[in-house]
Amino acid sequence: MESIGAANIGTHYDERSPIADELRDGQVHMWYWYDEQDEATLTEAVRRITRKVTDTLGLRSGERLLDAGCGPGETGVFLARRYGARVTGITLSAYEIERANERAASNGMEELARFQYGDYMELPFPDGSFDAVLALESLQNAPDPVRVFAEFFRVLRPGGRIAFSDFSLESSAEPKRLATFMSALKLPRLPTLREWLEYAGDAGFEVEEYTQCGPRVFGRRSKYVKAAMSRRQELLAKFGEEALGEFASRHLGFFAPRRDQVGYVIVAARKPRG
Ligand SMILES: C[S@@+](CC[C@H](N)C(=O)[O-])C[C@H]1O[C@@H](n2cnc3c(N)ncnc32)[C@H](O)[C@@H]1O
Repeated sequence: MESIGAANIGTHYDERSPIADELRDGQVHMWYWYDEQDEATLTEAVRRITRKVTDTLGLRSGERLLDAGCGPGETGVFLARRYGARVTGITLSAYEIERANERAASNGMEELARFQYGDYMELPFPDGSFDAVLALESLQNAPDPVRVFAEFFRVLRPGGRIAFSDFSLESSAEPKRLATFMSALKLPRLPTLREWLEYAGDAGFEVEEYTQCGPRVFGRRSKYVKAAMSRRQELLAKFGEEALGEFASRHLGFFAPRRDQVGYVIVAARKPRG
């Protein structure tokens, strides 16, 4: 697979995030529905993932959180508001930085939640400068996960926590379908749950919790389509036919794998106290 540079990833999210932001209320990530009859709205289904992943961090007021791959900021603003955490969000997307800082200001959270350009492959922060690190569906684009986990380990204080969530490989039976998916989402690799745990463990983290809830996430794609289609006219009026068409065409690759081929993992781990 070709290497995907930071500028390329930044452009990918500059193009993708505005409509995703609108559709999922600032959370550019997956959803969680219990079953096909679950009546939760898309916003609520997406918030469930935000809460499920960030709950594992056990944040306390005043703690310093790095939101690595922060998207358009709703997650970071939520964590500042709910826990009083001091959030530093980084992303490669200029659109996301502007939108996230706007969102922090309009929620009166600009003192607690700040967003800036940053590459998690080379973090511009001193050793031990955070109590917690969050990577909510951002590691999927990492050119070198070993390096990123080493960076997270470095910037955390001893005893600091990390939480991440992402896609996992559950069955490689139909490689063409997977290749289409990975190319559409710009994924250099699709690790298994075991590989995700190894990345964290090999960097020195002690894994404390993990789950694979793909059937309620990737497996509920049809509910996402239904929810998105119900807002089609509204999105059309705001973004226009061409932008919406491009956004939809990117989803073709997303839908390529069988439902049982792609999982969703949530992992919480700690840097040893020493
Ligand atoms: C799928 S979005 C998730 C956004 C956000 N965590 C959320 O859940 O709403 C992936 C995010 O990872 C960021 N990202 C990807 N590669 C990155 C890198 N090398 N350094 C920093 N951020 C990165 C993208 O810019 C984007 O904000």
